[in-house]
Order: sequence, then structure tokens, then C-alpha cells
Amino acid sequence: MVFSLSLVTVTIAALLASVSGQQLRLKVSGPAQVSDIADLTVTTTLINTGADKVTLIKEPSSALSSSPAHSFNLFHDSGSTPEFTGILYKYSLEKAAKNPETLVTLAPGASIEVSHSLAGTYNFTRSGSGSYNISPSTLFYIVNAEGTAEQVHAVLQNTHAVSFTPGSRLAVSPPAAARSIEQRGLSKRATYSSCSSTRQTQIAAAIPAAVSYVSESLSYLNAHTTTSTRVVTWFGTWSSSKRTTLVTQYTSLQATGSYTDWTYDCACTDGDSNTYAYVYPSQYGTINLCDAFWSAPTTGTDSKAGTLIHESTHFTKTAGTSDHAYGQTAAKALAISNPSHAVLNADSHEYFSENNPSLA
Ligand SMILES: *[C@@H]1O[C@H](CO)[C@@H](O)[C@H](O)[C@H]1NC(C)=O
Repeated sequence: MVFSLSLVTVTIAALLASVSGQQLRLKVSGPAQVSDIADLTVTTTLINTGADKVTLIKEPSSALSSSPAHSFNLFHDSGSTPEFTGILYKYSLEKAAKNPETLVTLAPGASIEVSHSLAGTYNFTRSGSGSYNISPSTLFYIVNAEGTAEQVHAVLQNTHAVSFTPGSRLAVSPPAAARSIEQRGLSKRATYSSCSSTRQTQIAAAIPAAVSYVSESLSYLNAHTTTSTRVVTWFGTWSSSKRTTLVTQYTSLQATGSYTDWTYDCACTDGDSNTYAYVYPSQYGTINLCDAFWSAPTTGTDSKAGTLIHESTHFTKTAGTSDHAYGQTAAKALAISNPSHAVLNADSHEYFSENNPSLA
């Protein structure tokens, strides 16, 4: 076995985790042919083929959740990919690992099936009708022996082929952004949808703090034209082109009216108690706020203002970031392992801007 060679150098927890990833098998099935995207629902099955039970987090972008997150890789025969039109979340793996409601335990031999409707989550217009290969993301978070979240990759058993007949409907609209007409006056100000007055007050305090984070981040980047601990910690190896990218991203967050005249929706229909917030990247200026947001501090690590930074970088119109890593530890590790992903990772921008603890 592979792991016996390195037994002396790895910790028992790491060993258990590597066993858990290997013992998870992932399958995908669905219709072979559709004429309407509304009929494109695929089913994922995660099987525990090992001898030990595994506890997993139902994280939104994993195959264990039916949320309209980016949980699939889709390739047209021509190699092109459909456009992702679903949701990007700020999610706390730390909270999730301690929350029984968002955990699922698979006994040896047990499996879990989840269906995923791809309508509204992907728009196939650009890539067109014809055949697609569908593979679910193999990334899962397990709760390890220490009770903390740990990444594992399941073994993918198969991919699924589906074809759209010519003339198929290839897209449906995702839900429209909330608009609360009565609060949209001539004067520019934030619009609140389904937010109590207490929550409006909390958001109103976070908005100027987020605006300050953006201007402080930008001044910092303009003042530091050579390597710095703060940039390297969150975005990896320093280069002048990386600094230029960051300046461009933060400049786009400083557009007139950013944060101050955006729409804040408190209904949160697609989150659980580990979710701070989410956006549809194409719906510029609408941020949906969820449970974890309300108990966060106004500023500091994983704060309300920081959450607004995180979400605002997801918009296609600003930085178009994804969620490659959640939490400070994973974001720091990402800066080292994959710096090009770090500059496109929303939590990395949030932690850079929150700058807590403060780095030079
Ligand atoms: C899908 O994308 C195309 C552009 O590729 C766009 O014209 C169309 O409006 C989109 N459809 C929906 C329902 O969003």
C-alpha cells in the first residue's frame, strides 16, 4: 500500500483522511437525450466503499447539495463549456464541521443520491446543442479525527454523456434580482429587500466599513510596488503583473455607488446556517445575506464588511472571482499551492482587505 512507505512522516489524521478520499466513489447518471434544459436533471451517487464510516459536509458546491452552485464540469464535443449562471457562496466550513444539520455520515457500504437540476445553473446557448460530457466535482469536505473540515477527492467512477436535440431550449433564466421599488428614490442609497429594521441598521454599518476596506486596499497596493508580506500571504509569489491585476480588481470595486447604492436581500432562499451570503455573479449589485452574516462582527476576520468584499469580487462586472478555498488556513495554503487561483478566490480578497492580524 502507498501509505505504509510514509507512515513515519505523516500524522495519523492525515493518514485517515487519505484513506477516506480513496474509499469514496462517485457516480453520475441522467437522461441520454433532452430537447429542453428543464429536463436536464442528473443524479450523483456517493458510495463509501471503505471499512470505516465517513462524516461529510453538505457544502453547497459539492455533489451532496442540490444548490445551484458550480458543482459540475461540462464539456461540449467541440471542447467549449456552457456559461455558469448559478450561485457563489461565502460558506464557513468551520461552522459546518460542528453543525449536525449539515453533516451526513456514510456507514461502510452506504451511499447517498442527490439530484441536480442544471436548468438555471448553466446556460448552454453559447456552446450550443449537440453532445456534452458531464462530470461532477470530486471535491468533498470530511470531518476528520480532530473535528475539523478536511478536503478529500472521491474517485470518479464514470462521466455522463447527454445530447440536446437540434432546436432544444438551452437556457432558462435564473431567479430575477430582488427589487424593492418603494425604497428606490431619486437619491442614491441602498435598497433593502425582506430586511427587518434591525438588519437594515446592521447592513448600513457594514457598508461604509466595506467602502473603507476597498480604499485602504487600493492605497496599500499603490504604495507597495515591490514584494510585501501581506500580498504574498494571500495571493502568493509577488510579481508586478499580479499587483496590476489586484489594482484593476480593487479599482472596479471602487466604482461610483459601489456598496452604497446596491441591493441587499435578507430572504436567503438558498443558504443554510453556515452560509454568510451569496450572489449570482451576473446580477451586479445584488447581495443575498444569510444566517452566518448576522452573527458576524462589523469588521475583522469573517466580518460583515469582509463578507461584502467577498461577495462583491464575485460579480462578473468586477473581479469575477470563484471560491477555490474557504477560510484563512485554506486561503493561505492556496496562495502557496496555486497563486493564479488565489487572485481569483473571493476569501483571499476578503482576508487581504480585512488584514487581521495586520500584515506589513
Ligand atoms: C443565455 O446566454 C445567451 C448568450 O450566450 C443570452 O443571449 C441569453 O439571454 C441567455 N439566456 C438566459 C435565459 O439567460
